[in-house]
Amino acid sequence: MPRRSSQPVEPPPPEEFSPCRYVEKVSLRSGEILDEPILPHSLLVGSHRDYHVVDVQARQYMSRLLRSTGDEDLVRTKMKEIRRLGHKASVMIAKALHRKDPDKIAKALFGLKDRDYYFRYKRHPLSQEEIAERLMQLAKQGAERFDKARGADGRPALRILLTGGTGFVGKEVLWQAASDEAIAEVVVVIRPKQIRDRKTKEVIRTLSPAERGEMMLDQLWLEDPQQRAKFSFVAGDVEKPNLGISDEDLAPLRRRITHLVHSAASVSFDDPYEASFRANVVGTLNALRFSHSLQEAPDSPFVAHVGIETSYIHGRQARTLAREDEVVFPRNFYNNYYELTKAMASIETERFMLTKGLRVVQLCPAIIIGESRAGNNRGDTKVVNAPVNVFGRAHEALNSPKGKWFERTSASMIARMACIFPGDPSAQLNLIPVDWVARGMLAAVRRPEAIGERVHLATDNRITSQQISDIVKEELDVRVRLAEPTLHRTLTLPILTKVLTSFKQARLARALEKLGTIFGGYSEWGQPVHQVGNDVAVLGLPEQRPNTLHAFRMLCRHNRYVQEFGRIRDSGEMSRRERAWWRFITELEEERGEPVGAMPAPDFRAALARRFNPATFELLEKEA
Ligand SMILES: NC(=O)c1ccc[n+]([C@@H]2O[C@H](COP(=O)([O-])OP(=O)(O)OC[C@H]3O[C@@H](n4cnc5c(N)ncnc54)[C@H](OP(=O)(O)O)[C@@H]3O)[C@@H](O)[C@H]2O)c1
Repeated sequence: MPRRSSQPVEPPPPEEFSPCRYVEKVSLRSGEILDEPILPHSLLVGSHRDYHVVDVQARQYMSRLLRSTGDEDLVRTKMKEIRRLGHKASVMIAKALHRKDPDKIAKALFGLKDRDYYFRYKRHPLSQEEIAERLMQLAKQGAERFDKARGADGRPALRILLTGGTGFVGKEVLWQAASDEAIAEVVVVIRPKQIRDRKTKEVIRTLSPAERGEMMLDQLWLEDPQQRAKFSFVAGDVEKPNLGISDEDLAPLRRRITHLVHSAASVSFDDPYEASFRANVVGTLNALRFSHSLQEAPDSPFVAHVGIETSYIHGRQARTLAREDEVVFPRNFYNNYYELTKAMASIETERFMLTKGLRVVQLCPAIIIGESRAGNNRGDTKVVNAPVNVFGRAHEALNSPKGKWFERTSASMIARMACIFPGDPSAQLNLIPVDWVARGMLAAVRRPEAIGERVHLATDNRITSQQISDIVKEELDVRVRLAEPTLHRTLTLPILTKVLTSFKQARLARALEKLGTIFGGYSEWGQPVHQVGNDVAVLGLPEQRPNTLHAFRMLCRHNRYVQEFGRIRDSGEMSRRERAWWRFITELEEERGEPVGAMPAPDFRAALARRFNPATFELLEKEA
């Protein structure tokens, strides 16, 4: 059985990017730290499975058992039992053959590759009491600084420097900040953007940071000049020292910025290690150094740094609750380098807090989806949107096959293949709408008592793969077949890729392979359960978190009608559509007195048909 991994094996990274800065390898036998190099891929789940045909079969069996029982604890117990039996049998075989090493037999015959080491994060030398005392002091200093950041009327007048403002989350932060009275100013760090010809890939235009910023305010429907005056844009690049901000731009910022909110990152699940490290760890280090220099500057109004992490810094922490107050190296490793490098960035952040005394709030969103009421996402096509859009397009191809019989048949077959997705029906995903995340970010800025805390911006009502598949069926009319993940990874996907390539569908084959290997990991059983509570207790957010089933339903509706499954790419057109959609959803909600996400699919479609011109996507006048 060939070893498959979602990430290709790479050469060791340069010293300054080495995982050894964060992780140590510990002998299970002696408890000693092993002086061995740690390669990034050894920290991913893909490196630790599918190495033996028996291992693959055992995983498949476990997955089936879970489907029939829905009981993860039972499956774990069974897995342990099987391993114990394998070891027992190996000892007996070794005895019968007069061999001295039953472990070798266990590995060769049953694929039982017991590790004699584990990984753990390097601990900070301070004791828990010292850490608690230090963090309390930081929060106290923060509260004093916060009090100074008040306007003449005594109300907070906060001035934020924001990285990642052009991203999915950043735009929602800007939108909410526009009407937040405590926020006096937001300066967005933006890099120039090259616009390329879609066919030739030639650069046809470069948008300056200022142009990008103004376009973004238009896209956010911010027309009032007074509201727009709150925002300004500065050229920068988080991978460069001082965030790439020129000395000329820097001097006035030092005198007024009260918070740096660092949201920029590379949210790409298939980037190689070094690229992820540069964007996520080097970018975070630059932001932390920048904040520290602001904090240290004489007469600086700086209050705190707000770091945006992810609740998946806990990786595949299957058995124990992923706690808000600590990060432990996940027993079942990380899904990808995105998660791993975000965890490393979180450790750098902790070190800055504890060794340099930087005042920090750490926020960890789960998997972010569109806005909770309407599903608006301002054209984002990442993460959960990617498979939903593929399913939607495949369905359209199924319903309107073109050409002769052969083309029609192959198109239909291809579309059916695109709707096979690896997942255990009971796997629970942690999806959180973007408006909740932005709300948490702005609350963190307003609450100096959050300094020193890590807060999960996650849900307490997780959605299962089965519920996702059911909603996709109701909303998009697509029957997604949940495939047993091990079988899919090791057999179905490679065959599917070959068949599609032979049908001259190499692009689709690549897309499916990417979707399956990258997102499949999130719908296998044994997903982490993220603790929540600090969002309410520390940030003061409402006790009731968004309803995930409603929010996912609205994501499907939005991606189908507004985004046309990713076909609408022009940001101006997307903005126009989302504005009409927002009005429609708000009115419908008022009319019905309940969230539109609670509306059954047929009723929603009927309401949509009454109000929208499908050709122009414009709202029709209401019937009297
Ligand atoms: N989306 C999720 O599901 C999710 C879940 C948990 C946590 N998070 C975290 O939330 C934050 C925001 O995510 P997102 O979904 O908004 O990501 P996104 O849509 O991909 O946006 C990323 C942002 O970072 C900026 N950026 C990246 N590299 C940069 C650089 N070198 N210099 C300056 N800016 C740079 C991008 O600028 P350009 O426009 O110039 O590319 C963009 O504004 C990230 O820290 C992410 O890890 C996201």
